[in-house]
Order: sequence, then structure tokens, then C-alpha cells
Amino acid sequence: MKEGAAMLSKKMVEMLNAQVNAEFYSAYLYLDMANYYKNEGLDGYYNWYKIQAQEERDHAMLFMDYIQQNGEAVVLEAIAKPDKEFKEFIDPLKAGAEHERIVTGLINDIYAVAYKENDFRTMQFLNWFVKEQAEEEDVADDNVKKFELFGSDSKGLYSLDAEMASRVYTAPSLTVG
Ligand code: FEO
Repeated sequence: MKEGAAMLSKKMVEMLNAQVNAEFYSAYLYLDMANYYKNEGLDGYYNWYKIQAQEERDHAMLFMDYIQQNGEAVVLEAIAKPDKEFKEFIDPLKAGAEHERIVTGLINDIYAVAYKENDFRTMQFLNWFVKEQAEEEDVADDNVKKFELFGSDSKGLYSLDAEMASRVYTAPSLTVG
């Protein structure tokens, strides 16, 4: 449905495509964390990160839908291999919090370009992600804090794992196209 003048700049299309990849990479990273916990016998944490990976895939799809909605081509590149090493149970939690800050930076970079280009449509689209990133950082920090408080003895860890097991998947509140 390509008609009329392109709404998105070439640079913007590139950045949005890069974000599709970044979100799929996030999904991959969280699946790696999920598998680490599965191997360690912490099925609650496994559940939590598997759902987190599903959310990241949703994010990728939203960027993909947005590119398509604007009549541009989606270019799927190779997804990098997750290369983080986890020695202790808290390591994925810390790596997750760190990763979300990086993703926030990526979203902010796209926003800054949209702002500079008077691309109000993309700013509107990204608003959901700005809010989502604040939530994701908050939850990731919370996971670290809770583990630091309660994760060092087996009873505490058992309760935390049970809490993580209760997470259920919900589809994103944003739809595109
Ligand atoms: Fe897609 Fe965790 O941000």
C-alpha cells in the first residue's frame, strides 16, 4: 500500500528496522536466561523469562507492523547469539536490568530523530514504548532487589520462584495496522 509521499525518512526506516532486530535479540537473550533457570531447576524463573521473551517478540512485531503500515519494507537481519555468562542465580536478573536500560536508550535515540524530523506519527507510536520501558526497568530492578533481600536462603528462594511462576502472558495493549 505504497501511495503518495513517504511519511518516514530513510534514516527512520533504518532505525525502526534495527529496532525489530533489537527486540528479537531481547527475546533471544531472555530465552537464554529462561533456559539457564530451567537447567538450574528454578521453573518459576524459567516461566517468567519465557514470558518476557514472548513480550519482546510482541515488541518486534509491533515495530514490524508499524514499518509495514507506513508502506516501507521490513528487512530482517541475523539475530546475534546471546553471549552472557551466568554463574549465580542473580546474574540474569542483573543482566536483564542492564539490558533494559540499553533498550531504553535505543528507543530514546529513535524518538530523538523523530522529534528532529517533525515525525509526529512515529513519536505517537513510540510513546507506548517510552512508557513500557519505564515499566520494564522498574520490574527488572525489582527482581534484583527482591533476590538480594530474599534469595540467599533456600526458603526465600523457593518463595521467589513460586512468585515468578505465577506470571501469565498478556498481549500488549498497543496494536498497529
Ligand atoms: Fe522490548 Fe524489554 O523492551
